[in-house]
Amino acid sequence: MKDRVEIFEVGPRDGLQNEKRDIPVADKVALVDCLSRAGFSRIEVASFVSPKWVPQMAGSAEVLAGITKAKGVRYAALTPNMRGYEDALAARADEIAIFASASEGFSQANINASIAESIERFAPILEAARHIDLPVRGYVSCVTDCPYDGAVAPDKVAEVADRLFSMGCYEISLGDTVGKATPDKIAKMLIAVKDAVPVTRLAGHYHDTAGRAIANIDASLALGVRVFDAAVGGLGGCPYAPGAAGNVATEVVHEHLTRLGYDTGLDGTVLQEAAAMARHLRPEPTDA
Ligand code: HMG
Ligand code: MG
Repeated sequence: MKDRVEIFEVGPRDGLQNEKRDIPVADKVALVDCLSRAGFSRIEVASFVSPKWVPQMAGSAEVLAGITKAKGVRYAALTPNMRGYEDALAARADEIAIFASASEGFSQANINASIAESIERFAPILEAARHIDLPVRGYVSCVTDCPYDGAVAPDKVAEVADRLFSMGCYEISLGDTVGKATPDKIAKMLIAVKDAVPVTRLAGHYHDTAGRAIANIDASLALGVRVFDAAVGGLGGCPYAPGAAGNVATEVVHEHLTRLGYDTGLDGTVLQEAAAMARHLRPEPTDA
């Protein structure tokens, strides 16, 4: 039997949160509905953050209300604080994600809190989610490089990942937020993190700014990582990480993994359809 590698689709959130154009809720719903036919187990579709900080995600409750939920798919939402958690629950998200950083500069720029303050803010979210068995995923951003602080030490990533995992996150997604990682840096970081969190609970979340995301996925596969975040059509970036280009494209990761002999469980034809829709949502290069 082929070895399974899961792709966690983040395009409707990480992708669309960074698109300059105002994207109508109906277009987001249509994209998610198409993705729901591709065979994903998890799709991140919403983000309950301050609309002053990320206006692109303001329609998240409408997106969750408008999509046709497919059986066996969990629809996820980002929640930076209790307010976001309550909004995500009201909108019936199937799982939520908290997001921390391994670097102080990005933590301040992204969520207006130090790393320690952010962990304190997440504690009541994890506590509340535990009571209702709501799965919580944890992100750690800037796992090798920070746009504000420069190089990030692997031990710091391990420390933050360990903290989120001990607090109850079921999986830790490791973000190369600005796409500056190299396979060598990713390997060093993973070796440190694997000491703190079982590799079966880790995911790679690599932006493709420098075109190295696939090489970074290969380095992670070699160390046992079997979950990767990707955005259909290579949508996105992060509004508080200057230079963060799109996440690695889902259809490219799927083709790469399939070529290597892994089973992603995804339908390549539906993925191409979703990728065409995603590309259509982006402005023409001349408007960008
Ligand atoms: P703050 O300004 O320190 O918070 O922001 P505040 O508590 O002072 O609130 C300011 C205003 O926001 C208030 O409204 C609050 O009510 C409102 P006002 O009184 O001024 O009218 N507010 C909210 N509104 C809606 N939903 C909420 C919420 N909370 C407060 N949940 C805060 C702190 C965390 C809210 C802010 O910094 C924020 O929203 N940051 C989110 C930034 C973001 O979404 N970044 C992108 C996601 S992370 C990412 O992309 C990386 C990742 O992909 C992994 C990787 O690539 O590395 C995950
Ligand atoms: Mg990201």
